[in-house]
Amino acid sequence: MKVLLTGGTGYIGSHTAIELIKLGYDVEIMDNLYNSKITVLDSIKKITGVKPKFYQVDLLDKEGMDKMFAVGNYDLVIHFAGLKAVGESVKKPLKYYENNVGGTINLLDCMKKYSVKKIIFSSSATVYGDQGVAELTEEMQTGVGITNPYGETKHVIEEILKDVAEADEKFEVAILRYFNPVGSHPSGLIGEDPNDIPNNLMPIIMKVYTGEIEKLKVYGNDYNTIDGTGVRDYIHVVDLAKGHVAVIQKMKPGVLFYNLGTGKGTSVLEMISAFEKASGRKLPYEIAGRRAGDLAEMYASPKKAEKELGWKTELTVEDAMNDTINYLNYLKEK
Ligand code: NAD
Ligand code: UD1
Repeated sequence: MKVLLTGGTGYIGSHTAIELIKLGYDVEIMDNLYNSKITVLDSIKKITGVKPKFYQVDLLDKEGMDKMFAVGNYDLVIHFAGLKAVGESVKKPLKYYENNVGGTINLLDCMKKYSVKKIIFSSSATVYGDQGVAELTEEMQTGVGITNPYGETKHVIEEILKDVAEADEKFEVAILRYFNPVGSHPSGLIGEDPNDIPNNLMPIIMKVYTGEIEKLKVYGNDYNTIDGTGVRDYIHVVDLAKGHVAVIQKMKPGVLFYNLGTGKGTSVLEMISAFEKASGRKLPYEIAGRRAGDLAEMYASPKKAEKELGWKTELTVEDAMNDTINYLNYLKEK
């Protein structure tokens, strides 16, 4: 099966490429390298023995996209490409709508023109908004109370995909709602290395460790949670990558939705303590005020994915921390 990964040199795409190549899928990657580096392809080759064919194309470049699809003969597209910096999306909403929504429309146009009928989309738990309960299940209503334009783009793209599947009875869609991806490949050769300013917890912890950021600000310690700090469902990126492989086997005409998470919540202070244990160093932090738009606690119900896909997370937050330290050491030596 020939698979195109949009955004495939990025954090989650590169880990998924490895799992697919290991199982014999013919993988090609397109990316504009806005938030990733071309050297990732060499790391994929080191790990798997295969260097995927690469197109440096922008989703918004209709001609470039068309040229790629004209020779691609793809059976499936896994659509990772998108901008994801929540804070930036609040300041520059049009950039986010244009890139994420406009880019997806161009992609779907090409898929239509070249009769590519299967797509897996990287969505996010953010589409659930505030449900008033911590455990989130796939049948909950989405799109209400999303607090930033980035999250809105994910919701809008989900709706577009539903409409496209409605209009074409042969179209197969799988929407994967990721919880909080962390960690890196156990080889230490790939991981999260953003070009943009991070505002997620794990990349900030990494930058505090390397000294690029002085201190971690813990956004609130007065929530009604185990220790007052925010609780999230941190999923190891290799488990997440395997979730994509699991869904490929189950795709059929229509739309499938799955949460990809562990089902277990971890607080910010627990994350700090796990990182300190793995690194053997104290991580400087201070308690700051709550961040606008944050929820106290959320985690996935992974039951649907477990039951229908036969997929289950296997790795822990501790594994993620150890793999992150490996990766940081690799970056330092590089
Ligand atoms: P990433 O930034 O590492 O990877 C995304 C890739 O897309 C980057 O390599 C970037 O250069 C590329 N890209 C962006 N716009 C493009 C365009 N117009 N044309 C071509 N390439 C383009 O991010 P990631 O963490 O690997 O996330 C992958 C997907 O998963 C994204 O859609 C993201 O929104 C979604 N997601 C991520 C998280 C997370 O916390 N990492 C959580 C939920 C959902
Ligand atoms: C955030 C986004 C969400 C997006 C998701 C993945 C907001 C309000 N939500 O979710 O839309 O889908 O990232 O990209 O931005 N934390 C700190 N200090 C920090 C950073 C984070 O204490 O410097 C805390 C947060 O308050 C939260 C936890 O760490 O409790 C995780 O934060 P983060 O990694 O940003 O993920 P989400 O809040 O789940």
